[in-house]
Formats: sequence, C-alpha cells, structure tokens
Amino acid sequence: MAGYMIDARHIIKRFYVGEPNELEILHGMDFKIPTGQFVSIVGQSGSGKSTLMNIIGALDRPTEGEYFLNGTNVGLANDKELSEIRNRHIGFVFQNFNLISRTSALKNVELPMMYAGVSAADRKRHALELLELVEMSDRASHMPNELSGGQKQRIAIARAMANDPAIILADEPTGALDSRTGRMVMDLFHKLHREQGKTIVLITHNGELAAETERIITISDGNIISDSLPPEAAQGAQSTQDKQEQAVQNEQTQETAAQGAQPRNEAEAVLSRKEVG
Ligand SMILES: Nc1ncnc2c1ncn2[C@@H]1O[C@H](COP(=O)(O)OP(=O)(O)OP(=O)(O)O)[C@@H](O)[C@H]1O
Ligand SMILES: [Mg+2]
Repeated sequence: MAGYMIDARHIIKRFYVGEPNELEILHGMDFKIPTGQFVSIVGQSGSGKSTLMNIIGALDRPTEGEYFLNGTNVGLANDKELSEIRNRHIGFVFQNFNLISRTSALKNVELPMMYAGVSAADRKRHALELLELVEMSDRASHMPNELSGGQKQRIAIARAMANDPAIILADEPTGALDSRTGRMVMDLFHKLHREQGKTIVLITHNGELAAETERIITISDGNIISDSLPPEAAQGAQSTQDKQEQAVQNEQTQETAAQGAQPRNEAEAVLSRKEVG
C-alpha cells in the first residue's frame, strides 16, 4: 500500500443498522488517493459526500469494506486510536470554520497542538508561524467574531495545519464565502499542496474550483459515478507486495471482526470534543 494515503475498498455505510428504518447511504466505494494528490469530490446535496468525508477523516467507520489511512486499517482502530489518527494525521476544514468563539485566533491555532502535548512555548511559536503562512499575523489576538469569513477560514486552515497533518480534508470550505474570498482560500490550498506536498481532499459544489484540482471524483446517490483518473489509476494497480500485505491484513481483519461501530456523523463534533478533551 506504499504510496497511497487513502485506500478505500468497497466502503458501505448504513445508518440504523438492524432497525426497520435501516438506510444505506454509501453503496460500495472503491478508490485510492496517492500521497500528495489534490482531489476534489463533487456531487449533489445528499449524495453522501460528508458521510464519505467522515469515513475518510476517521470520524466514523465504514459499516462494511475496509479503509486504510496511510496504511492504518481504520475499521480496526479503537476510539482512542481514531482520535490519535485524527489529531496527528488529518487537518479538518469546515464550511462554517468551527473556530472556538471565546478564544483568540492564536489560541485557536494552538489548540490541536495542546491536545498533542506540545509545550506552551513551542505551540505559540509554531502558531505564529502558521498565522504568517496564512497572512493573518496581524490578527493573532483577535476573537473570531472580530474576523471576516475569509479571515476565519484562513485561521481554520492554520489550525488544520497545526500538527503538520499529511492530509487536509475540507468540506465545502468556500461554501460560506464570496467568490473573491473563496479564491484566496483556494490559493492557500494550492500553496500547501505545491510547497508542502499535502494530500488534499476538497468537497465542493463549485465546478470551477474542482476543475483546478488534479482529479475529480463525482458521486451520486452513494456511488462513484465518475473519476477523472483512468480506472487503473483510480483503483490502484496492485503490486505483488501489496497483494501479500492485503492477504495478511484480510486475515487479521477476519480475526478481529470489527463490530458495530457507532455512527458518529457530526464531523464538527470532533473539534468540540477536542476542545473539552
Ligand atoms: N447520521 C445519519 N443518520 C442517518 N442518515 C444520515 C446521517 N448522516 C447522513 N445521513 C443521510 O445520508 C445522506 C447523505 O448525506 P450527506 O451529508 O453525506 O450528503 P452531502 O452529499 O454531504 O450533502 P450536502 O451537499 O448537502 O452537504 C442524506 O440522505 C442524509 O440524510
Ligand atoms: Mg455535506
């Protein structure tokens, strides 16, 4: 699996499993995203984008199928391991910014480092660097309600970068912004991709922004209906070593028989959980 940041194998997501109102939202998605790729996921409202993002971001586990994030089988991780994975490897960016309202821009950026146990001096220094990266140094002491939407989103991106995640997951990050401000945010993603080699997964309704990324995955009604990469690249041509690794992992999976992960859908909750944690 070397080289793939995201390796999703026949991901099925159901809610209310076993109840009369059981709902299957994702019907079996297969895709791989190589390390360092900038990919967009597009699809109509209700098609399952955020549900998929919750799985990609290890906020939720698939009901069936296997999901490997940077080589870790997310379906087999316990809750503590999942939150570790999120804190260390993933930077989340949301449509509504999700900044902690009574806390300065600087402290918002420091938060993920606090949970990762970084010392006060180090996290302040790094948070200031990140604010510089997003050109928000002069707003470090401002509260979120003293910032414009685009400024808030830049703070949120700085926060997403705090623990130097390998992957940035952004769910409609420009959805609440006017086009000029959305442009600034998009330019920032391009910069992180180009200069820092981040793997970026961008969920967007904006076809023009999607067209700027290296790959567009279109989903409809819980299925991938198109992928701008050719099929062998999208599924990942397997090497013999990959196959061997997979065989070992399949065995382990069967042994551990991951059972009944509780759906925890609200991606946003992760941040507030982190806040109190
Ligand atoms: N926790 C849940 N329990 C039950 N159904 C859910 C849950 N989360 C999402 N769904 C359903 O799954 C479907 C897909 O929702 P999802 O939020 O993934 O759509 P989306 O593509 O992100 O839409 P939008 O573009 O509006 O954000 C919807 O029909 C939604 O009602
Ligand atoms: Mg959504």
